[in-house]
Amino acid sequence: MRRLSGAAFLLYFLITLLSPSDGADTLTLDHPLADDGERLISEGGNFALGFFSPTGSDSRYIGIWYNKISVLTVVWVANRQRPVTGSHGSLSVAANGTLVITGENSTVVWSSPSRALSNPVAQLLDDGNFVVREADGNPSDPNSFAWQSFDYPTDTLLPGMKLGWNLTTGFNRQLTPWTNASDPAPGEYTFGIDLRGDPQIFEWSGTHAVWRAGPWNGLQFTGVPQMTSYNKLSLQFFDDATQVVYAFHMIDASLVSRLFVNHSGTVERLVWVKDRKLWNPLWSNPNDLCDTISPCGPNAVCDSSKAPRCGCPQGFQPKNPTNWGFNDGSDGCVRKTGVDCRNGTDGFAVVSGAKLPDTSSSTVEWVGTTLDQCRAKCLKNCSCTAYAQANISGSGSGCILWSTNLTDMRVYGSGGQDLYVRAAAADLGSESSHHRIYLTVITVIIALFILILALVGCRAWRRKKRSRGTGMSGMATSVTERHNDEGTEAKDLDLPLFDLGAVADATGNFSIENKLGEGGFGPVYKGKLEDEQEIAVKRLSKTSVQGVDEFKNEVVLIAKLQHRNLVRLLGCCIQGEERMLIYEYMPNGSLDSFLFDKAKGWLLNWPTRYGIIVGIARGLLYLHQDSRLRIIHRDLKASNILLDMHMNPKISDFGMARIFGGDETEVNTKRVVGTYGYMSPEYAMDGIFSVKSDVFSFGVLVLEIISGKKNRGIYDSSRTLNLLGYTWSLWREGKGLELVDEAIGDSFPKAEVLRCMKVGLLCVQERPEDRPTMSAVMLMLGSDSALLPQPRQPGFVAMRGPLEPDSSTSKQDSLSINNVSVTMFEGR
Ligand SMILES: *[C@@H]1O[C@H](CO)[C@@H](O)[C@H](O)[C@H]1NC(C)=O
Ligand SMILES: *[C@@H]1O[C@H](CO)[C@@H](O)[C@H](O)[C@H]1NC(C)=O
Ligand SMILES: *[C@@H]1O[C@H](CO)[C@@H](O)[C@H](O)[C@H]1NC(C)=O
Ligand SMILES: *[C@@H]1O[C@H](CO)[C@@H](O)[C@H](O)[C@H]1NC(C)=O
Ligand SMILES: *[C@@H]1O[C@H](CO)[C@@H](O)[C@H](O)[C@H]1NC(C)=O
Ligand SMILES: *[C@@H]1O[C@H](CO)[C@@H](O)[C@H](O)[C@H]1NC(C)=O
Ligand SMILES: *[C@@H]1O[C@H](CO)[C@@H](O)[C@H](O)[C@H]1NC(C)=O
Ligand SMILES: *[C@@H]1O[C@H](CO)[C@@H](O)[C@H](O)[C@H]1NC(C)=O
Ligand SMILES: *[C@@H]1O[C@H](CO)[C@@H](O)[C@H](O)[C@H]1NC(C)=O
Repeated sequence: MRRLSGAAFLLYFLITLLSPSDGADTLTLDHPLADDGERLISEGGNFALGFFSPTGSDSRYIGIWYNKISVLTVVWVANRQRPVTGSHGSLSVAANGTLVITGENSTVVWSSPSRALSNPVAQLLDDGNFVVREADGNPSDPNSFAWQSFDYPTDTLLPGMKLGWNLTTGFNRQLTPWTNASDPAPGEYTFGIDLRGDPQIFEWSGTHAVWRAGPWNGLQFTGVPQMTSYNKLSLQFFDDATQVVYAFHMIDASLVSRLFVNHSGTVERLVWVKDRKLWNPLWSNPNDLCDTISPCGPNAVCDSSKAPRCGCPQGFQPKNPTNWGFNDGSDGCVRKTGVDCRNGTDGFAVVSGAKLPDTSSSTVEWVGTTLDQCRAKCLKNCSCTAYAQANISGSGSGCILWSTNLTDMRVYGSGGQDLYVRAAAADLGSESSHHRIYLTVITVIIALFILILALVGCRAWRRKKRSRGTGMSGMATSVTERHNDEGTEAKDLDLPLFDLGAVADATGNFSIENKLGEGGFGPVYKGKLEDEQEIAVKRLSKTSVQGVDEFKNEVVLIAKLQHRNLVRLLGCCIQGEERMLIYEYMPNGSLDSFLFDKAKGWLLNWPTRYGIIVGIARGLLYLHQDSRLRIIHRDLKASNILLDMHMNPKISDFGMARIFGGDETEVNTKRVVGTYGYMSPEYAMDGIFSVKSDVFSFGVLVLEIISGKKNRGIYDSSRTLNLLGYTWSLWREGKGLELVDEAIGDSFPKAEVLRCMKVGLLCVQERPEDRPTMSAVMLMLGSDSALLPQPRQPGFVAMRGPLEPDSSTSKQDSLSINNVSVTMFEGR
């Protein structure tokens, strides 16, 4: 509020009497809103409306902003072009039903178009919509609004707002970002729907298109493959006789998200992150060089992961090869051979993972259009140049046909769709038959070569084995060794053996684009087998000597283990020096990539997290007890928990696992492997590990899943406690719920969360004998919290423990004579 003194006070007092009191949501005929700090606040408190000045400007504007968000975020501005200077502004609703902003000397600077109403009121609704309606009308019926701010968006699309056309009236809603941070006047960009052909979203600078989000394909816009990755939103696209409109809604109403175009033209999907007090972009576009309009000219395909970026589909060649070599593909591609449709021999080249080319002159057909029918339609029409499925949701429907040169084509690493480009039979045929002969010859040569290698290798291996195997003793021996006495390595694995060539093909020759990450003993690649099955390939580094044993250990172990919460081994590849494990591919990656990433933590609601906790517990119980072998994982951590399509957890990485003889319970090892932060005290300090060390790691995982925080961070004000210590201090003060990750929101079953927290704390107790077994954990997760014992102080509560955490993952005993013997005899 402005401070006023002396005589002005009386005036101020009068104004206050006549104005709505701060916090009302409605403006009536005799109660204008003055520019003295007053605001309308929507009923639920989500939005506020009033005068504001942008940063770096003294001009006053009427705007709507988030009332509960600490960073002033204006989502709508009324008088964008004509600000009020000085502090004389007021907003009122006039008797004829218009909203009027007046400045000095009562000059009107802005007014809204409106229909005549008998008793108009203006109301700020809780979804951020400012509406004019009859006083006795129904505020929840959009048809009763004579005017609404949602129809005149500025730079922000809120949940429930529509972008696009009312075809009955020809009314169009577009986003127009500000000129700059201090001037809300419409800037150079507009963002909206173009109705030509198959309707598309474009961003224009003036009349010139700068980015094309493309047509809606049933799931997302073809140019924004990341759109569906955030499952708290329901995205909608209506394309019928009455409207062509894009809109979205929040599935979880406690979350705040908006679509925003900033004044340099970047379109962003933002989510408010409460605990970091910032707007986090889930995606933003344009994103890379291939996102500029038609980056490679007609008929060319842009691929930002390749150099040069521009390429031609099969059957096409660069129009100007010289420029092309200089990374200038702007001339595009031309056909090698003209198509000849009368002949009926034309074929189609597939461009996979594509953003569909410009559809502004394409035709779309919806009835009776499977992909095959679509292909037949395209073949029949001489002017058809390409086709694609119009709606890839479900089993696919609809058909888009192009009859021009294809422009603005690109491909994505993931998330694109298949496009079929017409090509002359001669170009397709010759290429593929040459290719086939070539492939056959190479395959035969490689097969022969491999056969010889395998024979030689196998003999050498056996000889080596015989001379080594006699020295084996110890309680816990590696299973691989036992098995090798019986036959060749590959045979007793009883696993499909993959051919090196096939694996190389599947992973694009182990290309860097396909690399998923670097595991403990080598890189992991994503691959796609010939039958389209997706795989993850773990390739053992040739340099890592110790890894060879661990590799074999893992193969034999996992081959024997079958459980829905353990990652499934599909086979292995042992050829020459190469050792590889082939797993099922987990599309959602590892748990840590969700848990500790603020942008993705929202994807894990409480039921999902609880399912993950229970799933890990089941998997671990199976390892410890239910499988025929008794297995200690030894390196359980968030990055070793993989998530399948439905967010089911699967324990992975058994390279460190150990098998126990029937009645052994603990073993002392000289070689401590594992990850700091998850290791139990007795294991980290004395090298003693047992099932209870895994239970400790499980407890750490549970607390991380509840809190979304890493154990190794520091969380208390005195900066000494790690997550365990912090949880323990909260627990003892009865403030356990303060630990819960903000990303979970507010609506979660408190009792269940507290029970999980208690189980987590029981698992991380200092003394191994105090910790429950996994079967007890399973029981506890399903029982009443009051029946559980009270946890005692956890081990490793302070960051500065006896084992100074350098970045180490493993502490290797320097006394090891050679790595092989350490691995084999570590049980003694
Ligand atoms: C409605 O009334 C306001 C204020 O009296 C006036 O400025 C405006 O021109 C009127 N609009 C129409 C459409 O009559
Ligand atoms: C308002 O009226 C005063 C006196 O008539 C005049 O001096 C001033 O320039 C006017 N202001 C505007 C913004 O028209
Ligand atoms: C289009 O606008 C008219 C007039 O405002 C309205 O009656 C109709 O419901 C609108 N159509 C859609 C689909 O919103
Ligand atoms: C913003 O744009 C206005 C109008 O174009 C200009 O006068 C002003 O200097 C700009 N401000 C900044 C900070 O660029
Ligand atoms: C617009 O957003 C992009 C992406 O977040 C950012 O890089 C750019 O700096 C922003 N532009 C302005 C003017 O804020
Ligand atoms: C039809 O296609 C075949 C095979 O590509 C070609 O040899 C033949 O010349 C074509 N016929 C005509 C009339 O173009
Ligand atoms: C072939 O396609 C063009 C362009 O889409 C269309 O105008 C024409 O009617 C089609 N011809 C036939 C026979 O379907
Ligand atoms: C796309 O297909 C899905 C599943 O068949 C259907 O539910 C949806 O309505 C379709 N969308 C459009 C825009 O036709
Ligand atoms: C495609 O582009 C070439 C030049 O690049 C032009 O000669 C040809 O007419 C275009 N074809 C169509 C169908 O627009």
